[in-house]
Amino acid sequence: MDEPLAYVVASGKGGSGKSTLCAGLASALALSGKRVIALDADFGMRNLDIYTGMCENTLFDLSDYLLGRVPLREVVTPHHEIRNLSLVAAPARGIELDTETMGRICRELRSWCDFLLVDAPAGIGEGLRLAAAGVDKALIVATPDLAGVTDAQNAARVLAGYGVENASLLVNRVRPKLISRGIGLDLDAIIDTVGAPILGYVREDDGMLRHRQNLCEMMTQRRLSPGAKDIQNIAKRMSGERVALKLR
Ligand SMILES: Nc1ncnc2c1ncn2[C@@H]1O[C@H](COP(=O)(O)OP(=O)(O)O)[C@@H](O)[C@H]1O
Ligand SMILES: [Mg+2]
Repeated sequence: MDEPLAYVVASGKGGSGKSTLCAGLASALALSGKRVIALDADFGMRNLDIYTGMCENTLFDLSDYLLGRVPLREVVTPHHEIRNLSLVAAPARGIELDTETMGRICRELRSWCDFLLVDAPAGIGEGLRLAAAGVDKALIVATPDLAGVTDAQNAARVLAGYGVENASLLVNRVRPKLISRGIGLDLDAIIDTVGAPILGYVREDDGMLRHRQNLCEMMTQRRLSPGAKDIQNIAKRMSGERVALKLR
């Protein structure tokens, strides 16, 4: 791969599955051989260390770099099992950071990987602006309900205002049976409302609970669960593979 690709994973709404999909996609991409850095930009409310199963491994977080304690390279923590996957943990408490610094940090991180995935906080304010400061693409996560879709539409609009116009839609927590029975929004309606092309959907999956929200563990199972397969398919599309998208 020539140019590293940098995405912000955003949704506007809290609890839509941004961090889950960020960790799952980072794992799937790394398992396919890509060098991936996942950057937790939910400052003060970090979760990506939990979703990657790396709570015990992250010695440093971004504040250690910002306070001059360690070089940026030291904050990039390699995953203990998945080669090619690294995490930059967010500070457990809020930090002072401006978009220029964030842009510079992301530029440096991008020079060390093929994919940089930035996990955004909920909301469309300063936190999202910061998360978007060093990327050129967005993955907009929508859940298939009116609030989830409306907030995703807002997030896409605001991100375009922040200069990130290249957005793709991910629909999370899809329950195909309900959709086929006409209950809940169908994918076409969601695509129309959010106004971004769909890159994939992820089914509602009990595996998230079974693996205690450790997506790295979930993505390395020999038999992938339905949601894990969906995440793998999205990762393939992000790598340029053609994978048909149909609701099963
Ligand atoms: N496809 C899914 N199937 C089942 N549970 C999911 C799915 N995606 C996310 N979840 C659950 O939803 C909750 C919120 O997810 P999270 O990734 O923390 O959201 P966000 O980062 O957008 O706030 C978590 O408990 C997570 O396990
Ligand atoms: Mg989150």
